[in-house]
Amino acid sequence: MKTFFHVSDIGDLGAALDEARQVKATPFAWKHLGENKTIMLVFFNSSLRTRLSSQKAALNLGMNPIVLNIGQDSWKLETEMGVVMDGDRSEHLREAIPVMTSYCDIIGIRSFAGLSDRESDYNEPILSQFIQYGHKPVISLESATVHPCQAFADLITIEEYRRKKRPKVVMTWAPHPKALPQAVPNSFAEWMNAADVDFVITQPQGYELDPRFAGNARIEYDQMKALEGADFVYAKNWSCPGVTDPSKYGQILSKDMGWTVDERHMAVTDNAYFMHCLPVRRNMIVSDSVIDAPTSLVIPEAANRVVSAQVVMKRMLESL
Ligand code: CP
Repeated sequence: MKTFFHVSDIGDLGAALDEARQVKATPFAWKHLGENKTIMLVFFNSSLRTRLSSQKAALNLGMNPIVLNIGQDSWKLETEMGVVMDGDRSEHLREAIPVMTSYCDIIGIRSFAGLSDRESDYNEPILSQFIQYGHKPVISLESATVHPCQAFADLITIEEYRRKKRPKVVMTWAPHPKALPQAVPNSFAEWMNAADVDFVITQPQGYELDPRFAGNARIEYDQMKALEGADFVYAKNWSCPGVTDPSKYGQILSKDMGWTVDERHMAVTDNAYFMHCLPVRRNMIVSDSVIDAPTSLVIPEAANRVVSAQVVMKRMLESL
């Protein structure tokens, strides 16, 4: 495996879930694979889970993880080509990437969407430069449009807790005070479309995800109707994807608190489990009562981030 951005990169999902089970049961069984190998984890943006779970996964595999916070531990990096570098960015990615990859065997990148230029964000400019100039396996640790380590962990969690062969999984938009990227909902939709689940997306008008990710998911604009009989409720905020009107890309179109997932919403489900990738704004995205209920999976879901990252790193080490 040379890149991990999309569900297609992991191949057969059944095999990947089997491997996840094995990794979870015996996390140190592949420690020899990472001997004398280094993974560099480069963060252009803040993180709690991704940073720690990636480090833990690397350590479980016997690798040396190096974490770099761009702009805090390093020089500020210019990412655009052709610019006159007369501002506060002292180094260009064009040099920084090959330097960083000369010190490691695998590289992971976190770089959020700018949310001002849809075309630029959806071309994944930073990730693309790491592929072009790095010549090492690249993992998206949440880039402009995808968060595959999260979506894989979400699928592992659904597999662990499902009570039906083909559960109903509903991803619901929920309000948030800040404009957030579409990476998490994009990847969750992409992975659910590939999994054996009944997948529904519910959102206010204008929040339609890019068809490359929404795929054949059922779209239901009536949130309560969408949640009826759900086995898993996956809440997430995202800003306007700008599919039909690119001028609205990255904007907040609604802060309707009626979409906050509370007991009224959960009551129409089939005693559904609640999921969220975290960090979560309590009583914006979800009520205290729902996130604190025994049916909340937010902590096991976060714990599975080690498992998903470890499967991906293991496969990359095996293909070096
Ligand atoms: N879910 C997730 O990626 O969390 P962090 O932003 O804290 O890494």
